[in-house]
Amino acid sequence: MGRVIVAGSINMDVVATAERHPRIGETVAGQSVMYFPGGKGANQAVSAAKLGVPTALIGRLGRDGFGAQLRAFLADQGIDLAAVKESTSASTGTAIITLAKADNTIVVIPGANAELGAEDLAQVALAAGDVAVSQFEIPQATIAAFFQRAKAVGATTILNPAPASAFDSGLFALIDVLVLNETELGFLADIELGDAPSLQQVKDAVRALKPNSDQTVCVTLGARGAVAVSDGEARLVEGRAVKAVDTTGAGDCFVGALAARLSQGAPMAEAIGYANLAASISVQRMGAGPSMPSAEEVRALL
Ligand code: RIB
Ligand code: NA
Repeated sequence: MGRVIVAGSINMDVVATAERHPRIGETVAGQSVMYFPGGKGANQAVSAAKLGVPTALIGRLGRDGFGAQLRAFLADQGIDLAAVKESTSASTGTAIITLAKADNTIVVIPGANAELGAEDLAQVALAAGDVAVSQFEIPQATIAAFFQRAKAVGATTILNPAPASAFDSGLFALIDVLVLNETELGFLADIELGDAPSLQQVKDAVRALKPNSDQTVCVTLGARGAVAVSDGEARLVEGRAVKAVDTTGAGDCFVGALAARLSQGAPMAEAIGYANLAASISVQRMGAGPSMPSAEEVRALL
């Protein structure tokens, strides 16, 4: 059994709820403002840890109140935080989120996350069987250094290229499993995918990314489930119909759960089904970090 090691962002999510999203230039009256632990990296680590897998996080916080609250929350989830350092100059990453009818818009201010560098990686030992996870809320050079270390010892690498941005040269080749949503896929493949792309459109877009035969590309389709493409073969895992209240962090829940199951030696198809179930629980609760399910909760759905 391996560990899940996440190098990634830690944010405080400042969430305003309203009946609907404002249009540009418009003011709408909201209902509440809430503060939730978030950040894609932290959310993925919480997801894996709550599912019972030993998990470590490599990240940066600011030396401020949000930083202290986030550290306490993450420690409570049992995550190894030895490699979460405090920046002396930058503030803790912050996400400003508007939530209306379960759909969100997010503006992320990276703050200390932007300072996460290759020197932060040395703190955490990686071994064969571990799963190394990252996303695009930290510098790509740091991700590349992290994945190089992971590949050198025989660990599996998972990249969630969110928020979408072009790949630095060399990074793509270091990825074993790429997990992305339709928007990110459309952006990276440079293809207009629309709202509900067909399986064939998803397959074609994945082909445009030119994955090699050892790489798996897993496309999350929200309520419709997920499609995994490996070696040209596509397999759809159906979504589970639930009443969503807040989808923030659902993709992160999926990534963390996938990493957790792969670290336990589960085959890819089974791990994706499991991750799908975990994400379907998270969307039924408010917040990102606090909405991640426990292993018992997912087991009850199996
Ligand atoms: O994926 C959801 C996350 O994106 C939020 O928690 C927010 O912090 C942003 O990073
Ligand atoms: Na949620």
